[in-house]
Amino acid sequence: MASHKAGEPVRVLFVCLGNICRSPAAEGIMRDIVSRNDDEAGWVIDSAGTGRYHIGDLPDRRMRVHARQRGLELTHRARQVETEDFDNFDLIVAMDASNAMNLRRIAPSVEAARKIVPMADFFSTGARYDHVPDPYYEGSEGFELVLDLLQDGCGNMYDILNPKTFQ
Ligand code: 4NP
Repeated sequence: MASHKAGEPVRVLFVCLGNICRSPAAEGIMRDIVSRNDDEAGWVIDSAGTGRYHIGDLPDRRMRVHARQRGLELTHRARQVETEDFDNFDLIVAMDASNAMNLRRIAPSVEAARKIVPMADFFSTGARYDHVPDPYYEGSEGFELVLDLLQDGCGNMYDILNPKTFQ
């Protein structure tokens, strides 16, 4: 993994455009997985957006409703990605190709840009998507699809990156 040191927590930043739909959902799902495994000390988890339209907002109400139906409370406040995030996280997980391109534009170095990975890299084999589709202009199915993809991908990410696997 890009810069993770043995004995230290794995630091993961989930990134989308607005930081009100996909990435706060990924953050909430990952926090839930980590908490179920009693593993809070092993992980630092956050989310951010490449855009600035929704800074300070709670996640989109529709995403909060759909997440709550799966037992997840999303309380993140939207923030924009900062250059320092490339120092503060081991892995910067982009929801789609446009997010990844925007992240590459602001990466302070080639080394930093290596931390950017597509969320879809963690989808199970045979997944029907190669990105997490933006649900903002979609109906309920769009939000359910995002949660399905993220629950699959975050579960795999936890198994792959779990510090206990590396130590
Ligand atoms: P997100 O979804 O990137 O998953 O948070 C969006 C939220 C807001 C907008 C677009 C996508 N927007 O255009 O305001």
